[in-house]
Amino acid sequence: MRFLAIETSCDETAVAIVEATGGVKEPIFHVAGNALYSQAKKHAQYGGVFPSLAKREHGTNLVPLLTRALTDAHLLMKEKKTYPEELFEELDSILSREQVLSAGLIEFLRNHAKVPLDAIAVTRGPGLEPALWVGVNFARALSLFWGVPVVPINHLEGHIISAVVNQVGDGATYTFGEVRFPLLALLISGGHTELVHTPEWGTYRVVGRTRDDAVGEAFDKVARLLGLPYPGGPELSRLANLTRANAHRVVPGVEKYEVRFPRPMLTSQNLDFSFSGLKTAVLYEVQKRGELSPHMKGVIAREFEDSVTEVLVGKTRRALELYPARTLIAGGGVAANTHIRRSLARMFTELQPQDAFHVPDAALTGDNAVMIGMAAYMRQMLGIVHEVTEEKPLSANGSMRLG
Ligand code: KG4
Ligand code: ZN
Repeated sequence: MRFLAIETSCDETAVAIVEATGGVKEPIFHVAGNALYSQAKKHAQYGGVFPSLAKREHGTNLVPLLTRALTDAHLLMKEKKTYPEELFEELDSILSREQVLSAGLIEFLRNHAKVPLDAIAVTRGPGLEPALWVGVNFARALSLFWGVPVVPINHLEGHIISAVVNQVGDGATYTFGEVRFPLLALLISGGHTELVHTPEWGTYRVVGRTRDDAVGEAFDKVARLLGLPYPGGPELSRLANLTRANAHRVVPGVEKYEVRFPRPMLTSQNLDFSFSGLKTAVLYEVQKRGELSPHMKGVIAREFEDSVTEVLVGKTRRALELYPARTLIAGGGVAANTHIRRSLARMFTELQPQDAFHVPDAALTGDNAVMIGMAAYMRQMLGIVHEVTEEKPLSANGSMRLG
């Protein structure tokens, strides 16, 4: 099956062509085209993702990214096309709030042949609702002209699948690694911190979640307090690793400095997380010290990362006791963090040496459309597809739950 996949839940605009065969048990995914544009630099001045800017950027970038993904997949054919006027009227109403996107798409449709596809997969939620709507309406408009169904996908399901696939051969092909159910997923990104228990594909139970900030959000806010540019997660982590590596070196002239931050909710019996207090503890420390030397910044970064890691590992361990699993995965942007990855791997190997821990390849760690196409294939194969009818057209859902 061939999917066009679209992802616009946050500040990445992504379009991919995913071709899949093999069925639920041994799927083989070929990524024929993968075009992604990160808006992160544009949001940097706001210190976080600015929803209306994200929405506008998605609108501007979707058609160029579609063109690129189709070109890479050798599926773009120039051809003058005519369609009934009613279709354009309907497109106008679907994309009435997306002037730039609407104009770009009409131009595209008039000049290119229909693309042979089985379905269009699109992220329905969770995420920033104005941003999600752009992708959803783009998918609806394309579906109207090309006569193919839309498969709405939960973004978190995408993050789960991206952790269990492995790249093989030429690098554009992915197959499943060793996946045994039940599976426990720790999903950590700028928007989510969730522990999800999965007895089988398509069935999810969220057993723990954050009560306030997501982990990635906490990383980004603390990075900002240390004067690092947005999104500061990776920078903060680099600084923490450097400080960890140099911990035992005595550097002449560098002052002695230590700090201890809380491990929020680590000892509570439930599986919930809370990171806003930790962020406030860093804020107080920064305010108390005034000017921070590079050494102090490094120590703060390391202690913050240690605290987050201990909480994530501790809660995951507790979740494994309460909800036994044969596979552990970590997914989402923060799963790129080497300290967190290593600590989770160490805990799981000690606890269940016979079972596998998976994290996504670098290319699939952050938000992307490939994972949305893969999830759509699994859904199609399992026959658990969200019903879209003329009376009940597809909508975006910013707080969409897994299930
Ligand atoms: O999954 P993602 O690309 O987008 C969301 O759905 O949020 O995750 C982005 C988040 C940002 O907060 C970013 O700072 C964080 O992931 N991040 C990291 C690292 N790499 C990305 N946080 C900590 N350490 C990293 N190495
Ligand atoms: Zn994400």
